[in-house]
Amino acid sequence: MTNNYSEIYERSINHPEEFWGEAAEAVQWEKKWNEVLDDSNKPFYKWFVGGKLNTCYNALDYHVQNGRGNQTAIIYDSPVTDTVRKISYSELLETVSMFAGVLRDLGVSKGDTVIIYMPMIPETVVAILACARIGAVHSVVFGGFAPNELAIRIDDAKPKVMVSASCGIEGEKILPYKPLLDKAIEISEHKPGKCVIFQRPQVEAPLVPGRDFDWETLMSKSQPADCVAVSATDPLYILYTSGTTGKPKGVVRDNGGHAVAMKWSMKYLYDINPGEVYWAASDLGWAVGHSYIVYAPLLTGCTTVLYEGKPVGTPDPGAFWRVISEHGVSALFTAPTAFRAIKREDPDAEYLKKYDIGSLRYLFLAGERLDPDTYHWAVDMLKIPVIDHWWQTETGWGCAANCMGIEPFPVKAGSPTKAVPGYDVQIVDSEGIQLPAGEDGIIAIKLPLPPGCLPTLWNDDKRYLEYVTEIPGFYVTGDGGHIDEDDYLFIMGRLDDVINVAGHRLSTGSMEEIMAEHRDVAECAVLGVNDQLKGQVPVGLAVLKSGVDRDPDEIARELVQMVRSGIGAVACFKQCALVKALPKTRSGKILRGTMRKIADGEDYAVPSTIEDETVLSDIEESIAKLGLGK
Ligand code: COA
Ligand code: AMP
Repeated sequence: MTNNYSEIYERSINHPEEFWGEAAEAVQWEKKWNEVLDDSNKPFYKWFVGGKLNTCYNALDYHVQNGRGNQTAIIYDSPVTDTVRKISYSELLETVSMFAGVLRDLGVSKGDTVIIYMPMIPETVVAILACARIGAVHSVVFGGFAPNELAIRIDDAKPKVMVSASCGIEGEKILPYKPLLDKAIEISEHKPGKCVIFQRPQVEAPLVPGRDFDWETLMSKSQPADCVAVSATDPLYILYTSGTTGKPKGVVRDNGGHAVAMKWSMKYLYDINPGEVYWAASDLGWAVGHSYIVYAPLLTGCTTVLYEGKPVGTPDPGAFWRVISEHGVSALFTAPTAFRAIKREDPDAEYLKKYDIGSLRYLFLAGERLDPDTYHWAVDMLKIPVIDHWWQTETGWGCAANCMGIEPFPVKAGSPTKAVPGYDVQIVDSEGIQLPAGEDGIIAIKLPLPPGCLPTLWNDDKRYLEYVTEIPGFYVTGDGGHIDEDDYLFIMGRLDDVINVAGHRLSTGSMEEIMAEHRDVAECAVLGVNDQLKGQVPVGLAVLKSGVDRDPDEIARELVQMVRSGIGAVACFKQCALVKALPKTRSGKILRGTMRKIADGEDYAVPSTIEDETVLSDIEESIAKLGLGK
């Protein structure tokens, strides 16, 4: 294949069936597809219709059968437990087959759902792959979410079985998971019949007789289960992500298109070869964890690093350099916030001098905007290509990137470079009219999306249609930005109420729903305010009901606590101010943009549509009391 980006890109857009049909040859199929792309039911598209495969077979069995049995599949590096454990492809296959047997014996079969609420340990990967092996649909829920968020996901996914662990470890904190799991099952309407609990040595979780089962005990009695072939279009997993309301969106990933896209991206976007060590420093609960800790590296026959630690504090800002040098990592993928954390503690990268990171060929960053300062710092320190790329949980893999396996382009700091082959990224107005180069607009992707992207939302075709019918013929990403005269894309931020906190996607709408439940609150708004470390942090503003004369500081503290217990610590909701009124337009729309500018200390023009201009000075004062604004 040529390495000319324009040729490859043009072919992927104008001849997608030919292009992806060829890419699909890299996957092992039990039965080849009848049709590469089925567009008979637009705007629902299906890839590789008629094809049958098993994703776990492709990730494990195939490699063992082809000489990779002794190669390390997972390096579990856990500074928080002082552990480094290497698991070969053969061992992983054996353990996954046994756990697949456990799930089968608990009554899980093809098409059933399983929720996995676990920390960054190898058993989480085992549970994920075991589901894939028997055709069950997994849904991993990030450990930082509170019981209420877990319960919402239980009610939506209706799992037959839950898999969890006795605790997670966050830096110095040991966080028991079982009380959270029990609480979630108590408040959910759907009651999963069985739970499998992996007991970690740090915490022994009490088991509910008849419902909870010990992982090790079940494994000791299990018999291995074989791969079950599924249709290319069958769901592999559901991954919930924040929308603009309190109800998260269950992004569905299929089996066939996903395997094809994962393998293609490792080669052409990340330029990674089988056998190399690839490290995505993220969490298994996020899209990056699914795609680039588990599936893409294992489907490619790489060694993947599973890191249970932080960029700083476990034990110091040299943690990433230690892992790279100790394990010979070829490419690191993380969120810019991790690099901002390292830069803040070690601005001259003194810790880097202690390690030889000569194996590292690339640093890939995604999940939030890569600010030019952080970009330049990373380039200066590492002296390797630093690649910003843009994607979303919905797409599952990069939509815009400087593809290292095709034709590297000069970098423009602040841009993730150009559209990745397969994605027809355009800047349009609300009517779908393409805007000229340099003009900001809605970032939309012309349909069909390439393989690997969401075919729909779990049990919610109607909500999926919101993405693809707002502007007919396009998938609307929720981001705004522009494309310059050289076809470089610039992401300016979300156009909806989604915010990005330390690379974690959160909904301000869901925080507002929780605040509104407080008995003293008449109305409220949550803003995503710029933060030097985390990119953005949420800040709440609440108006009290008339007649309430309780201590405002106490009410603010209660609101902070409510959001923490409702969503989880990961919301980072620590600041809340009580205000006399929220600024609104004459038609009643809350002027969030204006408040955000005040909180960010930016100049703002008083909107001509504002109902009562005097409200703004009170907002300025309240925001100043939080230490924000000018
Ligand atoms: N389980 C339970 N709690 C969790 C958690 C988990 N898996 N992950 C985070 N939390 C908690 C944290 O302990 C913290 O709690 P606290 O308010 O009691 O201190 C809170 O959620 C906020 O976490 P976080 O935003 O991660 O802040 P932090 O100060 O602990 O760490 C960074 C900041 C930048 C070091 C960290 O966010 C990071 O490494 N991020 C980059 C990598 C990444 O994961 N990106 C995600 C997608 S690529
Ligand atoms: P998530 O679904 O959690 O991956 O979050 C997706 C959102 O993160 C996108 O819609 C963007 O708003 C933001 N995002 C991801 N990558 C980038 C990037 N490279 N530059 C700017 N924003 C990004």
